[in-house]
Amino acid sequence: MSIACIGGGPAGLYFAISMKLRDPRREIHLYERNPRGVTFGWGVVFSDQTLENLMINDPVSGAAIADGFAHWDDIDVHIEGQCLTSSGHGFIGIGRKRLLDLLSARAEELGIEIHYESECDPDPAMWAHYDLVIAADGINSRIRDARSQAFGVEVDERANKFIWLGTPKSFDAFTFAFERTEAGWIWAHAYRFAPDCSTFIVECAETTWRGLGFDTMNSAAVVEKCELIFARHLDGRPLLNNAAHLPGAAAWLNFRRIKCERWSDGNVILIGDAAHTAHFSIGSGTKLALEDAIKLAEVLNRPGLPLAEALEEYQAERSLEVLKLQNSARNSTEWFETLDRYLGFEPWQFAYSLLTRSQRISHENLRLRDPQWLDQVERNFWERATGEAKSAPPMFAPFRLRGMTLENRIVVSPMATYSATDGTPNDFHLVHYGARSMGGAGLVFTEMTCVSPTARITPGCTGLWSPDHAAAWRRITDFAHANGKAKICLQLGHSGAKGSTQLGWEEMDAPLAEGNWPLVAASEVAWSEGNARPTALTLAEMDDIKQQFVAATRMAIDAGFDMVELHAAHGYLLSSFITPLQNKRLDDYGGSLANRLRYPLEVFAAMRAAWPADRPMSVRISATDWAGNDGVTPDDSVEIARAFGEAGADLIDVSAGQTWAEAKPVYGRMFQTPFSDKIRNEAQLATMAVGNIFEPDQANAILASGRADLVALARPHLIDPSWTLRAAAAADYRDIFIPPPYLNGMTQLARNLKREAEMQAAALRA
Ligand SMILES: Cc1cc2nc3c(=O)[nH]c(=O)nc-3n(C[C@H](O)[C@H](O)[C@H](O)COP(=O)(O)OP(=O)(O)OC[C@H]3O[C@@H](n4cnc5c(N)ncnc54)[C@H](O)[C@@H]3O)c2cc1C
Ligand SMILES: Cc1cc2nc3c(=O)[nH]c(=O)nc-3n(C[C@H](O)[C@H](O)[C@H](O)COP(=O)(O)O)c2cc1C
Repeated sequence: MSIACIGGGPAGLYFAISMKLRDPRREIHLYERNPRGVTFGWGVVFSDQTLENLMINDPVSGAAIADGFAHWDDIDVHIEGQCLTSSGHGFIGIGRKRLLDLLSARAEELGIEIHYESECDPDPAMWAHYDLVIAADGINSRIRDARSQAFGVEVDERANKFIWLGTPKSFDAFTFAFERTEAGWIWAHAYRFAPDCSTFIVECAETTWRGLGFDTMNSAAVVEKCELIFARHLDGRPLLNNAAHLPGAAAWLNFRRIKCERWSDGNVILIGDAAHTAHFSIGSGTKLALEDAIKLAEVLNRPGLPLAEALEEYQAERSLEVLKLQNSARNSTEWFETLDRYLGFEPWQFAYSLLTRSQRISHENLRLRDPQWLDQVERNFWERATGEAKSAPPMFAPFRLRGMTLENRIVVSPMATYSATDGTPNDFHLVHYGARSMGGAGLVFTEMTCVSPTARITPGCTGLWSPDHAAAWRRITDFAHANGKAKICLQLGHSGAKGSTQLGWEEMDAPLAEGNWPLVAASEVAWSEGNARPTALTLAEMDDIKQQFVAATRMAIDAGFDMVELHAAHGYLLSSFITPLQNKRLDDYGGSLANRLRYPLEVFAAMRAAWPADRPMSVRISATDWAGNDGVTPDDSVEIARAFGEAGADLIDVSAGQTWAEAKPVYGRMFQTPFSDKIRNEAQLATMAVGNIFEPDQANAILASGRADLVALARPHLIDPSWTLRAAAAADYRDIFIPPPYLNGMTQLARNLKREAEMQAAALRA
């Protein structure tokens, strides 16, 4: 088998080595456009895990690379004249040129023919005599772009500008240096990769880049300006540019995220950056390239595996790892693109937010790396919350909204139980909410409780349209207040076009078999083909429904609720006004976002006027319709939140989607938290995050990084009413209220979990 490798970067060289090692008879030619020893960039960082993989694959080059590594442990974050250092991060770095020199020497030693200064043409005729063509020609791959349809190439060019410089200044720590200039913020990612050399990547928003005049400067002027801006970090050492042949502006790049649906087309195979890229801020591109190379060589050498199947396996096995890293890289990229949100944070929280930006490093992960640093973060968090610098997880810190103080920041999210008759909560609800109010969460939401019989989603939904309902709810709130510390929030809503459907565990969202009631909505848009078409509300009907919300709010006082939430999400009535996908009105309540918000805001303001001034109110919104620009966008959600904030909302409960039947949400851990982050830090409003948050570690990271003020969990609380008490036991946190009859159980659980953790730690040490 004869193989052509196009590109002498890490992917091409390491694939050639890995292939030759597995079968020395292979004829492998590697073509590189640059002369020997010439390359772009400075140092690259690796993890210990990647090095281990290299040692297993080829101990000879692995040992040579390991020899060339610079190691360091600390991350320094410089901001506003302060330097915050955290330890235990364990990085290794190597010069890109050194890495390539080592790999090309090893490749030649194994008999691979390297043809330098050979620019390869994508014309397939040129490669016809090779059995396999490996396109390892990097991010701007000509081979890939010539067949972009066949590979299903997707390119996403990101907003910020960056330039990859070097410096003889030796940084002791991985350094993030943020500098404020007259044109905006600019920052450097710097790390040592040899005793006397460090990478120094400078990044900024395009407006800052233009404002500083980088768009019109030559290379020397760019370097000079960067030296001036970052003078305090360079100790008089120069910055170096190894792309000085490029005019100044051209040496600056916008990162391009590349994804390919297919990594092979016939006998042409993509590898490394040609197939996928990961933003430099998580330093994983070289790792991915090397690990692709190992996997590809491995599958191509599996005995008896036909080529087509080998290539399928190569992509199947690598793409999951690549996707995970690309997701982390996207989070990290976006963090730097939306830096303005976090610049107002206190430096400790800014640093925490920076370290957890990719969501790969969690709260407990930081504790393992540097317990003292994390302890200080927790103390700062508590000091801001209570005035007392307590050493305890953020989720247990109290939170105040108007006259209501929550014991902690964990919330039982609203969840329909579909267990009422004629809207009246019964013993099921007493036990259900009773158990959750004693389970440790600071705040327990009711399910969506409906303002009239026809406002219900299903016949099993709870309501609050009669004094009997208020009395039944009072039994529950009295129990909760007498037996626990949790506050109770009533969620009020109207189902709109999603009403008159079956119970949640029957056919969800499908109409009743019999006894359907007429539906109303913002416009005559049915939820789906199977649902009845609603009538569009008249102004008089809108006023009636508003009065129903007000009446329910007044009854909520008698019912003993501490807080009320207006449900304006998930495609129900008020949401059907907000989303352009459901609202087709031509009057003052349709059209622009301001018009679409008018009715929900009128309802909210009327409720606010009826609700005691010292008790808080929240609103649940869908921060995106998952419909691109055709629906509500995350940017719109900031405007929506602001408008409710001005109308007196104390908290924005940030959910997403469920506003039209065709939505294609992007699920994942904590998948809606970025919307909470955006609203909290752009609109400066208190927010609650929700959606696939299920571990205390996640809750603590969300709170400590300032991405939300409260964290709501729904499904975890269905199965475990005492989720928060369990988390307290695991953290050995004793300052939480435990119903006295349950004290013994808590003591035992805490002891057992502690023993389990000690045994795990001992096993790890062994
Ligand atoms: C600023 C910056 C910082 C980075 N920091 C890190 C880091 O810390 N850690 C990390 O792991 N990664 C980092 N990366 C990413 C890393 O550089 C790439 O992911 C990695 O180089 C990919 O390897 P590759 O072999 O696929 O591509 P490349 O390294 O780009 O190699 C491609 C090779 O193909 C050659 N070539 C291209 N076209 C042709 C042609 N038509 N004919 C012949 N030859 C051709 C090129 O000259 C080049 O030598 C960083 C990237 C940037 C931009
Ligand atoms: C059974 C069930 C019923 C729900 N009912 C409601 C509801 O009445 N009101 C509401 O706003 N959200 C409701 N939700 C959505 C949850 O509050 C929450 O936003 C969603 O489940 C995501 O959180 P999770 O990943 O922690 O489950 C419901 C969710 C579930 C699972």
